[in-house]
Amino acid sequence: MTAIPRPATVGEGTASPPLIEIRGVTRVYDTGRVEVPALRGVDLDVRQGEFVAIVGHSGSGKTTLMNIIGCLDRPTDGTYRIAGQDIADCDDDGLARLRSRTIGFVFQNCNLLPRTSALENVATPLLHQGVARKQRLERARAPLERLGLGDRLDHEPSELSGGQQQRVAIARALVTEPSLILADEPTGNLDTASGEEVIAILHELNAEGRTIVLITHEADVAAHAGRQVHVRDGRIVE
Ligand SMILES: Nc1ncnc2c1ncn2[C@@H]1O[C@H](COP(=O)(O)OP(=O)(O)O)[C@@H](O)[C@H]1O
Ligand SMILES: [Mg+2]
Repeated sequence: MTAIPRPATVGEGTASPPLIEIRGVTRVYDTGRVEVPALRGVDLDVRQGEFVAIVGHSGSGKTTLMNIIGCLDRPTDGTYRIAGQDIADCDDDGLARLRSRTIGFVFQNCNLLPRTSALENVATPLLHQGVARKQRLERARAPLERLGLGDRLDHEPSELSGGQQQRVAIARALVTEPSLILADEPTGNLDTASGEEVIAILHELNAEGRTIVLITHEADVAAHAGRQVHVRDGRIVE
């Protein structure tokens, strides 16, 4: 893989604030019939350049926490600062811009657009940044080539293996040069070899200076991270 430029870093150094700063965060889902307290008071700091695994059983609140870290959802109570910015001060458009500039997402089921080429899939996040089509497609090539998919640019997801699809999803997460990669169970649907490949890619991205937050219920996957944060019943436990 060829190196790509180190991302612009925010909040680096001991004196600056953490990239992620979560204080007393709760999240209650109101289903109309019942209220489900999914997070019950979470404090968490993640520094620029860390590789952190968020670990816990199914239903413990991991995805809820990831949605908040990823600015896809807001806390019911408590504060969340990302790169020093309190998300309570952002309207929904501001939050979307912050997300698009700062964060690359990788999901368990890849979430690729069907009947759409790998190149077009990877180019999609640039659409939200207002990049013209020609430039979008040009910029989408590099992360695909880097992840060994240079000969699969025109393939649609159904024409790729599970591991290749997840590499397309990682290329899509990288195309905006985010400083933070958020991966929710990225190895969950993969065979062992493809899963190990994904972890190795996350390590490489971390070595370049990107912050990685990896969410998993698998202890052996979590063991690859520099630090593990355990979640149980909506709380962080030691
Ligand atoms: N949209 C929702 N509405 C109601 N309850 C939800 C919703 N999403 C998650 N929950 C509940 O919140 C808790 C935490 O879920 P989740 O964050 O998805 O856990 P995990 O990712 O660790 O499996 C679970 O009890 C789940 O049933
Ligand atoms: Mg989950």
